[in-house]
Amino acid sequence: MNGNTYEIGVIGGDGTGPEVIRESVKVLKAAAARFGFKLNFTDYDLNGTRYLRTGETLPEGALEELKRHKALLLGAIGHPGVKPGILEKGILLRLRFELDMYINLRPVKLYPGVQCPLKDKGPEDIDFVVIRENTEGLYAGAGGFLKKGTKDEVAIQESINTRKGVERCVRYAFDYTARRNKANKLTLSGKTNVLTYAFDLWERVFYEVAKDYPGIKPDYAHVDATTMWFVKNPEWFDVIVTDNMFGDIITDLGAMIQGGMGIAAGGNINPEGTSMFEPIGGSAPKYTGQNIINPLAAICAGAMMLEYLGETEAGQTIEKAVMEVTAKHIKNLAAGHMGMGTVEVGDLVADLTATI
Ligand code: IPM
Ligand code: MN
Repeated sequence: MNGNTYEIGVIGGDGTGPEVIRESVKVLKAAAARFGFKLNFTDYDLNGTRYLRTGETLPEGALEELKRHKALLLGAIGHPGVKPGILEKGILLRLRFELDMYINLRPVKLYPGVQCPLKDKGPEDIDFVVIRENTEGLYAGAGGFLKKGTKDEVAIQESINTRKGVERCVRYAFDYTARRNKANKLTLSGKTNVLTYAFDLWERVFYEVAKDYPGIKPDYAHVDATTMWFVKNPEWFDVIVTDNMFGDIITDLGAMIQGGMGIAAGGNINPEGTSMFEPIGGSAPKYTGQNIINPLAAICAGAMMLEYLGETEAGQTIEKAVMEVTAKHIKNLAAGHMGMGTVEVGDLVADLTATI
């Protein structure tokens, strides 16, 4: 019994989001019972269905209310009846920006028993972490149109990179690499040969901050080469730090080499405020309500949340339970091919979390 209590906001979201989050909450409750802390879950109805009914993405006061939680658990945002961009910008990106979750932490780890599309690569080769800047770059929304709709139209989308934003991300990445203490290597993934303003700043900040971490080997790779090495030599990576757009792209490739969207989880982290944990995959509308979607990514997001809360042993126990399931129980990570249902996977991980 450590007696700690944490307030957790739960946003099931759209499609299969609520189904996978239900299993994640089930497993989190099993971990809390075993390790003697308390999680108070509060549900928030923020999703495409609500938007279609009310016209609002985040209602008045929602941000203030969500901010009062130490952590949020998000299922998925995306509704086939809503034009792409509205919910992503209005809910997901808005939460990342307004709650200043400036780190997007995405571990890429191949668990035992998981099919990897890379030939001759196993769990000992694929175990690295991508730290994606989460509030700036091309995602900042700077730009505009000139002469829209005419044949002289101009569209501008600017990448915003602030000294403060880059430095806090790079510093977090060095700290994280030191804490992880695996290969003690941090790779900046950029494009210094073409993006000679943005990545000039990133590179200068990176090597400047590196001086404060003599135990960490600073390393650099262009982002295009990074994708090549994800496939050819993933074992070269320990921790990677990169900007928002590159981080978005390379972590989808990362998710594929760790076994797909069924397992990939991430954390949107504000080290000084509220953080939000989510499976990386989308709302998968076609699988909704059929008990066939894989909840492991949402369960892993829950495990990451516990580690962030400082309940390290509990988080690691969930991860161990997940590894037991991938190694011995689940047939395949793809929706509909698991050899068991969404709820049964959740039950199994919860049981193992209580006993393993
Ligand atoms: C992700 C997603 C989002 C992003 C979309 C849904 C806005 O792809 O979390 O990686 O681009 O960041
Ligand atoms: Mn993405």
